[in-house]
Amino acid sequence: MSSTVKPRARTQPEKWVAYGAGNALLGLRAVTSLPIAYVVDDTPGFAGGELDGLEIHASSRLGKENPDNLMILVCANTTMGILGISRRLLGLGFKPGIHFIDCSRLQAAPMARRLQEDLGIRADLDRMNAVRSLALALRPRNLSTIAGSWLFLELLQSLPRSAVGAVAECGVYQGANALIASILSAPLAEREYDLYDSFEGLTEFSAADPSSRRSEFSDVNLNEVELLFANVNNVRIIKGRFDQTMPLQSPRPHSLVYVDCDLKEPTLYCCRHFWPQIVPGGYLMTHDYWFPAAKLPAGAKPPFSGVREAFDQFCDEEGLRPVVFPETSHAVLKKL
Ligand SMILES: C[S@@+](CC[C@H](N)C(=O)[O-])C[C@H]1O[C@@H](n2cnc3c(N)ncnc32)[C@H](O)[C@@H]1O
Repeated sequence: MSSTVKPRARTQPEKWVAYGAGNALLGLRAVTSLPIAYVVDDTPGFAGGELDGLEIHASSRLGKENPDNLMILVCANTTMGILGISRRLLGLGFKPGIHFIDCSRLQAAPMARRLQEDLGIRADLDRMNAVRSLALALRPRNLSTIAGSWLFLELLQSLPRSAVGAVAECGVYQGANALIASILSAPLAEREYDLYDSFEGLTEFSAADPSSRRSEFSDVNLNEVELLFANVNNVRIIKGRFDQTMPLQSPRPHSLVYVDCDLKEPTLYCCRHFWPQIVPGGYLMTHDYWFPAAKLPAGAKPPFSGVREAFDQFCDEEGLRPVVFPETSHAVLKKL
């Protein structure tokens, strides 16, 4: 009987090339020193430019490389982005794990170090692999990023027994992060999990927010989100604007609150609303906190810069300092 042996991925390729000239690449470069030769990106107008000192080429340039010496790093923060680039690479004859990996594979180690050093959390890298496989297989688009959902799970896992309280997610979209957490986290199943969203996309733009991103996240169907969680007993879906729905809930202890709503005013509102309800040992986490100083190529989506303004304002009000994860653009506060 013959069998096919999958060749082992090369850990020391002669040449690294990044695919994706955006935040995912810059977040990794902020915390690692990968020797990347250049970046490819097929977004119209990107080729010929540069990002953080790296030349940008069209992906056709990869055809000139010797695949045996090459590792392509797929740099995208959404699962749809990773899958889109991976399909293109498969079409060009490159093999997953041998010729290309996605950035979540390199984000976990530096994040685990920071979790240990700054929050005393011993992270589980096997859990990261489980999150990755599940996130890539799910239909809902995961905007929290693969390693961001893993971070959420690590915080849940680390909660001390004394940190009794509900979990809330403020900004749910198609429910991907919530679904991954509901499937993979045993500690979450023992807590009430409230999912807050307008389910109508972004609305409350201030001058600090990028107005060009006004139309995002309206492609969501509440019935489908409800269907995903129909048999998950601890989940409650609370539809409406945060400032209209949150005041209607009775204040109660919370152990982890995840704010992922992209805009300044709603972020500030959620932080101020929930922080007093978070129990000692619990966490407040936000997405979209870190964005690069390096200029993105002309035509790239601007970052949700209002979130950092809001979170910094909240930290100043409370005299707090967040632990920052540039890899996925998250920031975490621990309640003492
Ligand atoms: C980036 S998406 C959330 C992604 C999600 N955590 C995931 O796992 O994919 C941001 C969401 O915040 C919601 N949102 C933004 N501002 C809001 C507000 N003021 N009230 C309610 N929902 C809001 C939007 O409707 C959108 O679905």
